[in-house]
Amino acid sequence: MALRDIFISLSENEALSTAAQNYGFKLGAKNIVAGTNLQEVLESVRKLNEQGMSCTINHLGKFVTDEATATQAKEEILALIEAIHSENLNAHISLKPSQLGLSIDIDFCYDNLREIVEYANEYDIFISFDMEDSSHLQLTFEFVEELQKSFSNIGTVIQAYLHRAQEDIESFKDSRLRIVKGAYKEPEEIAYQDKLEIDINFIELIEYHLAHGHFTSIATHDHNIINHVKYFVEEYNIPKDTFEFQMLYGYRKDLQQALVKEGYPLCVYVPYGEDWYSDFMRGLAERPQNLNILTKQVFNKKTNTVLAVAAGAFVLGRLTKRK
Ligand code: FDA
Repeated sequence: MALRDIFISLSENEALSTAAQNYGFKLGAKNIVAGTNLQEVLESVRKLNEQGMSCTINHLGKFVTDEATATQAKEEILALIEAIHSENLNAHISLKPSQLGLSIDIDFCYDNLREIVEYANEYDIFISFDMEDSSHLQLTFEFVEELQKSFSNIGTVIQAYLHRAQEDIESFKDSRLRIVKGAYKEPEEIAYQDKLEIDINFIELIEYHLAHGHFTSIATHDHNIINHVKYFVEEYNIPKDTFEFQMLYGYRKDLQQALVKEGYPLCVYVPYGEDWYSDFMRGLAERPQNLNILTKQVFNKKTNTVLAVAAGAFVLGRLTKRK
């Protein structure tokens, strides 16, 4: 059984999911998930705003395969928009089209996305479409292009590991964009596999959009890239209101605070939701090497050992069953 399949089956395991929901927060998930409901996430966002950080809020959802769950996700996001507005928070929304029904029906998904963007537009709240794996890329870009004909409060993500990223950034040069290295396992026909090649492309894309484009969100925890961007924006007098650094909630808090202290705009990607467990397991299934970084952020040493033993026992159990 491949590691990917193990994480997928862990994500679908009801007993583990219930246990994670009951105990996961105490064990450390609260370090990287800002709450399980709207009230909790709003409290976290308020605290981050007080520290001089803006936020992009993401409602976590399980892999959506039915219309009722996608509609529920849409309602939650609409409530979030209303709350950002009424509480005057310095925040916008990040969402994944698959959560709104991309795998169910294209028109159904588009209608959900349009309703969200239109509602947020009334309050001048920005919506960022996260980029998922390459099977969702073309449709996500088409949705963004179509919605941009009517609304200006929408942007998306460019993944530096993709060979096509340079062309895509040119097509979206008038949009607010988040630029990332890329989080999914993609084949070498379409994506760079080598870290150095990804880093070089990442820097080129960031420089291109900073110099030619609209607002740029540089989303990384990599201090080398961040230092390079600091040098570039100083050298070319790029105004501080045309870019921001973005980092995940709970990751590299030291670096987040240092950037704010130095006067750089910093936006925290804040995930929340009851279903955080299956979302994270799916993330690990896509890219098991994330486990190391993730556990560093989440658990202390003692908990790590307990979890490693429990996961080992579970995996061994499954492998033996298959024989
Ligand atoms: P990377 O993991 O390459 O690490 C480089 C170096 O930085 C490490 O060797 C280490 O020295 C240091 N470092 C990194 N993380 C550290 C940590 N936690 N503690 C200590 N040191 C650390 N992807 C995607 O495909 N679609 C999307 O929509 C998004 N959205 C998104 C939003 C935001 C706000 C972020 C931060 C990231 C994403 N991503 C994403 C994920 C992105 O593509 C990428 O997989 C991760 O950010 C990991 O790459 P990094 O650039 O952070 O550093």
